[in-house]
Amino acid sequence: MRLTKAMKHGRFPAFTKRPGFIMALAAAVAVGACEQKHFQPPNRAAQVAEAQMLYSQKLFDSVTWASDSVRSFQGNEVYAEKCRRCHGTVGEAGTQYAKDRGLKVPSLVRPDWKYESLDSLRKMVFTGHSGGMPIYGVAGISPREIDAVAYYVLYTLRPDVLGAAGEPGKAK
Ligand code: HEC
Repeated sequence: MRLTKAMKHGRFPAFTKRPGFIMALAAAVAVGACEQKHFQPPNRAAQVAEAQMLYSQKLFDSVTWASDSVRSFQGNEVYAEKCRRCHGTVGEAGTQYAKDRGLKVPSLVRPDWKYESLDSLRKMVFTGHSGGMPIYGVAGISPREIDAVAYYVLYTLRPDVLGAAGEPGKAK
């Protein structure tokens, strides 16, 4: 192939100098800018605040269980599927999955814990947290699953790991 003079000198082909091309380029850049705006990561703090507004204890009114052991068993299933990758097999945290994502995941089996009631724990799982905890109430799992996993963490996992000292009492 013969090289044209423009190619030899590293110049752009003639069509790039036409106004039509410049306009098309400007339009493409503008569209690109709009799309970039469209793909802004969602504001997590705002999402958490919205979930907090949607939260109500009433969500769990219709949730009933055949027995406490069924509830805990179901909660264990939810925990293994949804929570374990970040919070660890027995809630101890420090998983590779969390490390790889730079997430600071707390242990769920610290003796001193502010989620001592079932409802405060269900609410935390429902609303998530701006630091990387998923907002399960908005996109994810049903009130029934949230109830089960909160019950499991509070009344099975923590007492199992912490012994009698972690026993918070009977579920409400
Ligand atoms: C993608 C990782 C991830 C997953 C999955 C996850 N969490 Fe979390 N969790 C976090 C992070 C990070 C925090 C710390 C709060 C924050 O900054 O988001 C947290 C905080 C918590 C807390 C508050 C603990 C404390 O001591 O303050 C509870 C309770 C909790 N998670 C329960 C759960 C349960 C139950 C599940 C499963 C339904 C779950 N988490 C799934 C990342 C995760």
